[in-house]
Amino acid sequence: MFEWIKALHVISVIAWMAGLLYLPRLFVYHADTEPGSEASETFKVMERRLYRFIMLPAMLAAWGFGLVLAWLAAVWTDGWFIAKFVLVLAMSAYNDFCGRWLREFAADQRKRRARFYRFVNEIPTLIMIGAVILVIVRPF
Ligand code: HEM
Repeated sequence: MFEWIKALHVISVIAWMAGLLYLPRLFVYHADTEPGSEASETFKVMERRLYRFIMLPAMLAAWGFGLVLAWLAAVWTDGWFIAKFVLVLAMSAYNDFCGRWLREFAADQRKRRARFYRFVNEIPTLIMIGAVILVIVRPF
């Protein structure tokens, strides 16, 4: 039972990560399109579907299965889990920022340059590296 929930947790984390890495990449190219152009309208559809139908369900599933695992394994006070929890809160905040940037593009706003999205695109990778090392190596 525990292993099945852990497998579902890792599957939903992978789906969530795929969206967190792909959506800012779409923003990089969207930032260089003309508001109202055919390319911009296509990006809006891709971004909305990715965020609403993949990232949000995957994030909720990762949280749901993760919290059940934490409860079953009673790891609430373990140092590695507390540190991982802080990282995952940061990843969830990043997911929320992606939603804000998506809404700006949907309103044909161009508040930031492509370079900004290229830079922030690295953040989920760094958080993922920390989370995986903490949960598998458990350094503290
Ligand atoms: C969303 C909130 C999350 C919670 C509450 C959570 C909690 C947990 C817990 C309690 C376990 C089981 C540890 C054990 O075997 O005793 C686990 C496993 C795991 N988590 Fe998470 N996690 C979350 C998000 C993430 C994220 C964002 C990542 C990676 C980016 C991640 C990667 C993993 C991996 C790879 C395992 C399997 C480790 C193993 O096989 O030993 N988790 N998680």
